[in-house]
Amino acid sequence: MKISSKLLSAMLAAGLLCAASPMAAQAADNDLKWWQKTCVYQIYPKSFADTTGSGVGDLRGIIEHLDHIKSIGCGAIWLTPVYPSPMVDNGYDIANYTDIDPSYGTMADFENLAAEAKKRDIRLVMDLVFNHSSDKHEWFKESQKSRTNPKADWYIWRDAKENGEPPTNWRSIFGGSAWSYSKERGQYYLHTFAKEQPDLNWENPEVRHALYEAARFWLDKGVGGFRIDAITYIKKPAEFVDGKPDGEDGLSGIHGLTANTPGILDFLHEFKQEVFANGDIFTVGEANGVSPSDLPKWVGKDGVFDMVFEFSHMNLPLKKGEVWCRPTEWKLSELKAAITSSQKATQDNGWCPVFFENHDQPRAVNHFFPAGADTKKAAKAIAAVLYTMRGTPFVYEGQELGMTNVAFPSIDDYNDISSHGQYKNALTEGFSPQKALDFVHFFSRDNARTPMQWTNGANAGFTTGKPWLPVNPNYPNVNAALESADKNSVLSFYRDLGKLRRQRKELVFGSYEELLPADEQIFAFARRYQNKALVTAVNFSLQPAPLPKSIYGGKLIFASQKNSDQDTLLPLEARVYEETGR
Ligand code: GLC
Repeated sequence: MKISSKLLSAMLAAGLLCAASPMAAQAADNDLKWWQKTCVYQIYPKSFADTTGSGVGDLRGIIEHLDHIKSIGCGAIWLTPVYPSPMVDNGYDIANYTDIDPSYGTMADFENLAAEAKKRDIRLVMDLVFNHSSDKHEWFKESQKSRTNPKADWYIWRDAKENGEPPTNWRSIFGGSAWSYSKERGQYYLHTFAKEQPDLNWENPEVRHALYEAARFWLDKGVGGFRIDAITYIKKPAEFVDGKPDGEDGLSGIHGLTANTPGILDFLHEFKQEVFANGDIFTVGEANGVSPSDLPKWVGKDGVFDMVFEFSHMNLPLKKGEVWCRPTEWKLSELKAAITSSQKATQDNGWCPVFFENHDQPRAVNHFFPAGADTKKAAKAIAAVLYTMRGTPFVYEGQELGMTNVAFPSIDDYNDISSHGQYKNALTEGFSPQKALDFVHFFSRDNARTPMQWTNGANAGFTTGKPWLPVNPNYPNVNAALESADKNSVLSFYRDLGKLRRQRKELVFGSYEELLPADEQIFAFARRYQNKALVTAVNFSLQPAPLPKSIYGGKLIFASQKNSDQDTLLPLEARVYEETGR
């Protein structure tokens, strides 16, 4: 029998049902939206598939691989920026918000991609970069002409200090001062990121409305949602004052001074009302600087977005240990605690994206596992957590193959603007060139941006030309063609996990309960739905891990390795149990 929502409220009021039962976080089928029941695949188009021999991926290349994406159970594609751009930050410097960069194709290619994706029940999600534009955007060109130009106030301009120095000592996220001088206008402009990425002035309503209009342009094209870039930086403090110097350069990192400034939510609620409050789309904000305790203001019924990328679990393994070499001192219990806090904050109100990779992060197999780990086993271990956790899993291109970090021999081989900034910073801090390069090897965003590995042919089948960034030399052993034909590969494991998610309601609708929180080897949790539960247990270490009976009491339904010893997990082994009777 189906209970109507009216009848349900009446039953609740009469005390016939318990609204605050521990099962409250379980969702009913029709409570969840399409994007809560699927997985999202993230594409960095420049590195995905090149159909022209230019060495740069393109939209037609994505069309050729839609079935690959579908095969791992993804019903949405987050496209990192494909708009016209000088590509200083590979598209995150936008020169026109409502067109396609010619290197990726045309608007007709985009429409064709959307149509082909729709045939497979996949929707496209656009990346909105609204904190800043490119310095080649017409808006900025106008703004820098004069202090009286109609767009004079569209960016953040200030006079130099009396001694001629930049207005404040803020350091941009990519390194160096966050201010650059425009001779044309005779003033400094603010840029949270590179000097070619001037920050837009959100205090100006004309700017906000122009951005909302750009977002609506893509809604009119039928897109399924938005990922909203660097959104925590849009509100600046009322007064611009120097921060405490935190490096040899005498500057103070801008992140700690401007991220998540009070008042930001007023802008965001307006953005929501104007653009996405209604409609069958989803939004996910990139919210570095928002902590799990802030989440109820950002997501859920009183929040702004459907989900936010909150980074406490990603930043943890990067912060501990010496910053210039591979960090080793973080603990699995801390990683689990970080994930559990986001889960708890959204358990009854809101939703989480589940992610361990993106285009700014090291590859997960290098990021979350000890050096020397078998990367195929590690890739399956993280996949098991990704696909069985509560929330919408986000798979970053190549993660489903177990792609790994790369270590280019020289800093000149790196394309990523931020890696060059990191390298310079490390030298300024007094590190040797080799130490500075070691630092880049681990942290560089190019680790995630090497071309997608399709085959064991030339350039891993990514291009017939010269790839814009070298292919990872491990492609003969890590590629989609090989893995497609091998039922024990990482790719096949993702496909199997995709099936499991479709078959088991617990994985979509179930609540989340962390198990063994203090265990430093095993990541374990239960997903309860109605009177059933699935329990995931993954050994993140390189040693065998004793598995408490409370976990393996159920029926084993899924495993990443062959192991007849039921009470010990092999190094990097992942299992899923069906639990009954608890
Ligand atoms: C976000 C993007 C990153 C980009 C930056 C500036 O963090 O993910 O790739 O460099 O914003 O737009």
